[in-house]
Amino acid sequence: MPNRTFTIIKPDSVRKGNFGKIISRLEDEGFRVLGLKKVSLSRTQAEGFYAVHRERPFFPGLVDYMTSGPVYAAALERSEAVPHLRKVMGATDPAKADAGTIRKDFGESIEQNAIHGSDSDENAKIEISFFFAESELL
Ligand code: RTP
Ligand code: MG
Repeated sequence: MPNRTFTIIKPDSVRKGNFGKIISRLEDEGFRVLGLKKVSLSRTQAEGFYAVHRERPFFPGLVDYMTSGPVYAAALERSEAVPHLRKVMGATDPAKADAGTIRKDFGESIEQNAIHGSDSDENAKIEISFFFAESELL
């Protein structure tokens, strides 16, 4: 049974022209793109999206980074969507990510790490609804 996850192709990836390469990898991994939007996050949106991290020392830098340029937000579908995306993304710090992962190949640093992926089915649902109406998921 396919289920859903949510990704953001982060500003560093968009700036460097890696959007297509990253989407292509996701398609090769069996993800179907249900919805896709290019958006410039406002500070309020970025703060809301990463609200769980608001007390962390890296939070202001994270918000600066996520608002530094446009991103692509996408709802994805696949079997085991959440854990599989996390596997294909690799560790948060690209230097520690496994060979062949998106963050290893496209991330610059623990902060500018190319891609976001939901960490649970519950958060995937919340994050998809942050950007998409159900009628926009095809
Ligand atoms: P994400 O939520 O973006 O998929 O990343 P993640 O689960 O692998 O990592 P998380 O702990 O949720 O951190 C969210 C994002 O904050 C930035 N970060 N910077 N400077 C730092 O030490 C640091 N730690 C995390 C990264 O952009 C990370 O993806
Ligand atoms: Mg996270």
